[in-house]
Amino acid sequence: MFVPARRYRNLTAGGCDTGGMRPTVAILGAGALGEILAGGLLRAGWSPDELSLAARREERCAELTDRLGVACHLDPISAAAGKRVVVVAVKPKDVPALLAQIQAALEPGQLVLSLAAGVPTSVFETALGEVPVVRAMPNTPALVDEAITAYAPGKFVTEDALKEVASVMEAVGKTVVLEEQLMDAVTAVSGTGPAYVYLLAEALTDAAIREGLPRHAAQLLVDQTLKGTGALLAETALSPIKLRAQVTSPGGTTAAAVHVLEESGFRAAIEDAVRAAAQRSREMGEAAAEDGNASGVA
Ligand SMILES: NC(=O)c1ccc[n+]([C@@H]2O[C@H](COP(=O)([O-])OP(=O)(O)OC[C@H]3O[C@@H](n4cnc5c(N)ncnc54)[C@H](OP(=O)(O)O)[C@@H]3O)[C@@H](O)[C@H]2O)c1
Repeated sequence: MFVPARRYRNLTAGGCDTGGMRPTVAILGAGALGEILAGGLLRAGWSPDELSLAARREERCAELTDRLGVACHLDPISAAAGKRVVVVAVKPKDVPALLAQIQAALEPGQLVLSLAAGVPTSVFETALGEVPVVRAMPNTPALVDEAITAYAPGKFVTEDALKEVASVMEAVGKTVVLEEQLMDAVTAVSGTGPAYVYLLAEALTDAAIREGLPRHAAQLLVDQTLKGTGALLAETALSPIKLRAQVTSPGGTTAAAVHVLEESGFRAAIEDAVRAAAQRSREMGEAAAEDGNASGVA
């Protein structure tokens, strides 16, 4: 039985160690993102025995324990036992089955942190009861501790629980808390965002080669341009408009290039791409909710 938010605030024991701002963490679904998060937590100072993992295949578990030194379980209930934050890192379509597995086993004081794209907190609350659920959307720069994670609280989440979620996700980058209705937009902007940047990198590298640059030099020029520009955007208080104005001389090369991009619909294409990704995220959330109903967990 789960405790309502009011009571949960005082419930830091109940078999689960809150660990101050370093809560113990179980990662259920240790695939690509789960492994990245576990690696980030270890780099940030979590010890292997403060973490646990769950995977579906024995060889995946063995590989993870070998690489990370963290216990990996084929049974998600064993992985979650005694851990304060239970991270759900399976694909959205696998969420209902995982919830069916763990729904009877969560303990008072445990907090669910879902990374599943598009799946609303209501799907978890319907399946699990009055459990605190936070929905988060990180991105893959987590691999180099440069993620941005937006997260939104469900109905039964306290301020303290939100701080613990922030401490977990800040192990791999920055965080921002938002209303849940904005999470599909977050998925479309920063969750999917790295793919847009990779596509730009690919196109720019191809263009550089077409202009006669050797491949290795083209790649270095593009990678470092993207990295440096990202750092300028993140570290100066200047808007992209101001930064672009700084590199645009009247009648110069940048003005000529930007004119071509605007004329070919660059800006509108980005807006349409983000809208399509947000719509797809909403559809995936609806499908996960329907699957939950069909499987009887939601
Ligand atoms: N990758 C990203 O950029 C990104 C960014 C933000 C959010 N997300 C979200 O993060 C989640 C994971 O994405 P991913 O790319 O890491 O997917 P992934 O590599 O497929 O990882 C999911 C893992 O969960 C395992 N699994 C499935 N059901 C399980 C169960 N009942 N018990 C234990 N393990 C189970 C899968 O096992 P098998 O290997 O046997 O299939 C797989 O290894 C998704 O919901 C996605 O929407 C991903």
